[in-house]
Amino acid sequence: MNILVTGGAGFIGSNFLNLMVPRHPEHHWINVDSLTYAANLANLAGIADRPNYALERVDITEREAVRQLFERTTPAVVVHFAAESHVDRSIHAPSAFIETNITGTFNLLEEFRALPKDQAKLFHHVSTDEVYGSLGATGLFTEQTPYDPSSPYSASKAASDHLVRAYHRTYKLPTKLTNCSNNYGPYQFPEKLIPLMILNALEGKPLPVYGRGENVRDWLYVDDHCEAIWAVMEKGVLGETYNIGGRNEKKNLDVVHAIIRLVSEEKGVPIKPLQDLIKYVEDRPGHDLRYAIDPTKVMREIGFSPKENFETGLRKTVRWYLDNESWVTQVRSGAYRDWIAKNYDER
Ligand code: NAD
Ligand code: DAU
Repeated sequence: MNILVTGGAGFIGSNFLNLMVPRHPEHHWINVDSLTYAANLANLAGIADRPNYALERVDITEREAVRQLFERTTPAVVVHFAAESHVDRSIHAPSAFIETNITGTFNLLEEFRALPKDQAKLFHHVSTDEVYGSLGATGLFTEQTPYDPSSPYSASKAASDHLVRAYHRTYKLPTKLTNCSNNYGPYQFPEKLIPLMILNALEGKPLPVYGRGENVRDWLYVDDHCEAIWAVMEKGVLGETYNIGGRNEKKNLDVVHAIIRLVSEEKGVPIKPLQDLIKYVEDRPGHDLRYAIDPTKVMREIGFSPKENFETGLRKTVRWYLDNESWVTQVRSGAYRDWIAKNYDER
């Protein structure tokens, strides 16, 4: 079967391909990625030469390019990861989020709809719990929670989710949707909380905590997310939505302290100077207070349960960044430095 994986050079997409390509030689895996700042082909070094893997550099916002891609590759399945994914960037410059996340998803759905009916097996849309907005101190996001997005990023992902459901209802497209909580692990671009804090702690740079660090996120190790997606692809019901999470809520400040402890242990350096690096900075506008997934449906109906707990997953992640200095150096290019200056200098 030909499987198109969009955004396969990004954080979650590359972890997904690294797991699936060797495990499923019976499928041909085609990575569709425009290679934005968030992409990195070094993430895929372990599979790049496999005969059942190919890269197609295509921008999903370009309709004609997507049409030709579908003609060339005759996919049966699309797994759609490609997106602009960083909330803070969406606040500074929302337009790429509208184009990639909404128009890009629309283009893929349209070309998938144009495939012969007996060829088009599954369009799996990878989405986020941020579409549900913010929780207060209690409660959990279920598949029935109304959409209430707060940022241009989450609003654009909400729009893409609505399109996917509409294409299932209207055109009977075979779709599935998963909404996952915050991921962490290897290959995550260091604009996101966990890799940014690890690298800044390693380099003795300030650790910028938004507001008072009281916001809560529900963390899942990236491989667990990838395994859940594959399990839903195999066992999930067409037209259904599955929330993915591992019941692992943490306050941001507690995450930062956990990282400091692990960096101190793994590098064998004293903890106090690392703790002194914490800097409280201006809050994110529209900052959602708390995310927490109720994973009952994916656990009961699909049999998903995470393998990694936060302690083991975070230690592996810190170790990975320590052991992959050349990846880090390459990623922290000029464009990366510009973003860090823009986002943090005025805070
Ligand atoms: P990422 O930013 O690391 O990677 C995104 C990838 O998409 C990059 O390789 C990029 O080059 C590619 N891309 C962007 N615009 C494109 C375009 N126009 N055409 C083709 N390719 C394009 O993102 P991620 O963190 O790996 O997230 C992947 C997906 O998972 C996203 O849809 C995101 O909304 C969703 N998600 C992420 C998380 C998380 O914690 N990171 C949690 C839940 C859901
Ligand atoms: O919930 C799933 C979402 O998780 C995904 O859909 C997004 O693609 C992904 O980026 C992530 O969104 P968040 O906004 O939750 O992740 P981020 O790593 O940007 O921030 C996590 C928390 O840490 C959030 O409350 C903001 C805070 N933060 C973040 C950064 C970058 C800080 O306090 N300081 C920082 O420097």
